[in-house]
Amino acid sequence: MKGNRTLTIIKPDAVQNGNTGNIIQKITDAGFKIIAMKYSHLSTSQAGKFYAVHSERPFYQELVHFMTSGPVVPMILEKENAVESFRNLIGATNPANAAEGTIRKAYATSVERNAVHGSDSDENAAIEGSFFFSTLEQF
Ligand code: CMP
Repeated sequence: MKGNRTLTIIKPDAVQNGNTGNIIQKITDAGFKIIAMKYSHLSTSQAGKFYAVHSERPFYQELVHFMTSGPVVPMILEKENAVESFRNLIGATNPANAAEGTIRKAYATSVERNAVHGSDSDENAAIEGSFFFSTLEQF
């Protein structure tokens, strides 16, 4: 059964560029309900843990550096089939491949500075939700 929650992060590039409000509007216009949200500045240790799955990848250090370069806005979102539906809304990881109308097409500037994160599975949605919102029992 598909889950109904996912975790997103509005990344430092989008926050810095003043796109937080526009991105939240697109998310709610697409029918997602915001269950939890905060404004946060990740430490190197926190960003390193969040992206630990990528620790062997060549872009890991740069990714951690970027994700700690300014504030982020993590959110837990709710909608039927949330993970897949949200990944369709945000578009491809690399904005050069992102479809028209997607959040990354509108606001991302590179594969690293790609405006938003979206969980890639129900299992990771639960893990990533707990990472930012430890008091929510559902995650
Ligand atoms: P995200 O969906 O947050 O999950 C992992 C992130 O790693 C991804 O978005 C990109 O921001 C980043 N990433 C993936 N591939 C590359 C790459 N080739 N170069 C730099 N960053 C990357």
